[in-house]
Amino acid sequence: MISITPEEVKLFAEFIHARSGIVLNSTKAYLLESRLGPLLDEYGAKSFAEFFYAGYRSEEWEARVVDAISTHETSFFRDQRPFELLQAKILPEFFGKRQNGSDPTPPRLQIWSAACSTGQEVYSLAMIIAELLGDEMKRWHITITGTDISDVAIKKAQKGLYTRYEVERGVPLGLCRKYFESQGELLKVRADLRAMTVFNKTNLLAAPEGPGVYDIILCRNVAIYFNQKNRRRLFQTMATCLRSEGVLIIGSTESIFGISDRFIRNESCNTIYFQKGRE
Ligand SMILES: C[S@@+](CC[C@H](N)C(=O)[O-])C[C@H]1O[C@@H](n2cnc3c(N)ncnc32)[C@H](O)[C@@H]1O
Repeated sequence: MISITPEEVKLFAEFIHARSGIVLNSTKAYLLESRLGPLLDEYGAKSFAEFFYAGYRSEEWEARVVDAISTHETSFFRDQRPFELLQAKILPEFFGKRQNGSDPTPPRLQIWSAACSTGQEVYSLAMIIAELLGDEMKRWHITITGTDISDVAIKKAQKGLYTRYEVERGVPLGLCRKYFESQGELLKVRADLRAMTVFNKTNLLAAPEGPGVYDIILCRNVAIYFNQKNRRRLFQTMATCLRSEGVLIIGSTESIFGISDRFIRNESCNTIYFQKGRE
């Protein structure tokens, strides 16, 4: 394995931070060596400095470096409790409020899974919605938008195709039988669930999605990689993109205390969630 010098760590840390907001300090030399090493081999670079300067630079090179450094760890129904909260309280409340009697226009619900990695969070939400609405689902206009900075992750999410291990480690057997179809050795998410989803490559620290678009945002296990300034910026974006009284769910080890005052903290089903105040 090619070793990285402290100067090269600084060079890559600054580049990765500028591109994605991910903070790497000098203790991350091993991470850079192990995750970028295979790319150096592929590009035929003999040192990290050569890999950085020797004319390989392109949009694709930059995306691959960030992709190699990002942690894409995720799973279906990760941490479970936020999904129990959504199923027992948050979604039924939205569905109740949006039922529109004799109005022929379909009731709408817009959800954003920000930094969705390979899509398991998005499809977990889709399964809950299908369970709650059953046949009524056809009457609704529901969109779950999954975004991530990683091309590779977004492409996998779009396919909705997972190994049996990926599915079975998070999805209860009953839901697995109901919402996945075998495709060779793999399992594919059922077409009507995939039809609810849209996936886009988006840098959370770049352009916001647009004001007041979403009813619910899940932004879990990504702010931990950012510095305080970018966390502030991130949750400012979340507040802008949520509708009035919309709900934000963050990771179980994360906090927005001292970072944003645009949300009201609530707790239900042993889970903390945040609600945007009425505007
Ligand atoms: C640990 S995964 C979290 C996935 C999912 N939210 C969950 O909790 O299971 C973190 C994801 O954040 C993405 N990410 C990192 N920086 C990002 C940025 N600036 N904009 C969008 N996504 C980013 C990574 O590509 C990665 O897929």
